[in-house]
Amino acid sequence: MVLYTKPPTVEKVEKALEHRGWIIAAVPQKGGKPFIAGVLKSLDEKLGLGLDSLVSSGRFAGKKGELLEIPRGETNVILVGLGEDPDAETVRRAYAKAIKKVVNSAEEVLILVSQLDEGLRMDALVGALLGAYALEAFKTEKKRKLSKIFIDSSANEREALAIAEGVYLARDVANAPPNHVYPEALAAKVESVFKGLGVSVEVKRYDDLVKEGFGGIVNVGKGSARKPLLIILKYGKKEKPSLALVGKTVVFDAGGINLKPSHSLFAMRHDKAGGAAVLGAVYTIAKMGLPIDLVALIPAAINVPSGESYLPSDVIRLWDGTWVEVGNTDAEGRLTLADAIAYAAKHFDADTIITMATLTGSIVAALGSLIAGLFTSDDSLKEKMLEASRRSGDKLWPMPLEDDYRSLLAKSAKLGDVNNVAVRWGDAIYAALFLERFSHGKKFVHIDMAGPGIGADPPVTPPDYWPRGAPGYGARLIYELAKILSSKN
Ligand code: BES
Ligand code: ZN
Ligand code: ZN
Repeated sequence: MVLYTKPPTVEKVEKALEHRGWIIAAVPQKGGKPFIAGVLKSLDEKLGLGLDSLVSSGRFAGKKGELLEIPRGETNVILVGLGEDPDAETVRRAYAKAIKKVVNSAEEVLILVSQLDEGLRMDALVGALLGAYALEAFKTEKKRKLSKIFIDSSANEREALAIAEGVYLARDVANAPPNHVYPEALAAKVESVFKGLGVSVEVKRYDDLVKEGFGGIVNVGKGSARKPLLIILKYGKKEKPSLALVGKTVVFDAGGINLKPSHSLFAMRHDKAGGAAVLGAVYTIAKMGLPIDLVALIPAAINVPSGESYLPSDVIRLWDGTWVEVGNTDAEGRLTLADAIAYAAKHFDADTIITMATLTGSIVAALGSLIAGLFTSDDSLKEKMLEASRRSGDKLWPMPLEDDYRSLLAKSAKLGDVNNVAVRWGDAIYAALFLERFSHGKKFVHIDMAGPGIGADPPVTPPDYWPRGAPGYGARLIYELAKILSSKN
């Protein structure tokens, strides 16, 4: 079961070069020249591609990202360069770039990967799968034709597909329009997506949230006729989770009474990209059966102005009893997350809490649209996160939980304990310190992914495997982290 979009199926073939149709061949360089050996040599000989003359005439040099289509009628070849000593990210981008050439024209494609080091073959497949995504659930006429990828060697197909499905899920959720994925609809979809995966799904609805004192989620979401709810997923054998994942899931962020200007509104359907990343990661973790015990919290809400909305200057009581003064209704993510973080810390007693959130414009000002900010005071977790970032290609940069800014939390509140806003500059840091306060001494990591969560802003060029809109940032990052954490246990 998927949300909207299914990746192509994958099938290994023995006699790859008998394939008719499209073939993608990524070519590494050695000593500045395309290195044609193994399956590439056989391909050249069999189809008479004349690679030597393509190289000597300067039409193909195998440089990173270079692409050459060789249409030959029955069998067509796309060469894509990898440069010298390609790494995983280069390989993912190359296969994504090449497959984009055929997703709308071919039903099947063969990707050659046996010419790569064994450790890079799965990255090739992942790149191809991620490059084949397009959200077309709301198009009457679908453009995407590709439904099958053949591959000429084993490449951890099961894991590659589990990863791709997780990212597709994250992309579908993050890109879906708010009239289709509102809180109740998301809960229903999550229940069906995770059926049979060994993940339990519990939904706390509005009345429960009010009764149990989730004042952050309730206040942020109460302005909409479509009321907020809290989705709780549990995976693993133990009752006590070692890991809690909390994802900002503001289905649409109009800003509330502090209404955003028109030009800022359209991107705000992606304000659920943090929750989407968490859902995608949990999906892959469960599919692969990683030995880890986790809980995922998805507080889903719509932040809009109405006669029922919470107001600037309201003082609201959060789940853990903290009184928060609402300085700005558009700083809503930190309120829904504060409830969920405190619940993860105190109710679930999780050892480590990680938040994924499109939290602040401030982090976009600092790091742009390709990089997320990493906030943690735990050095060991910081290193593991950065390693997961290197492995996945989901970029992260460390940001400070600056102690000298901590006093702002209390200082900015006149009536309550803390204010949800305090500063003109450095709001990403203030928001992170605000969230940390609710982790009640647990190990805490916060990822402010407001940039990559909503996708690259021109003129920035995104990685080739990013689609238009939200790229599903963070799903692979958290999956890689879970792999690191579970292998150390
Ligand atoms: N969802 C936004 C943050 C955001 C901005 C995400 C740009 C993606 C791209 C968040 O809820 C917000 O509105 N933050 C305000 C906070 C301010 C009122 C203190 C902001 O950053 O302007
Ligand atoms: Zn907002
Ligand atoms: Zn928001």
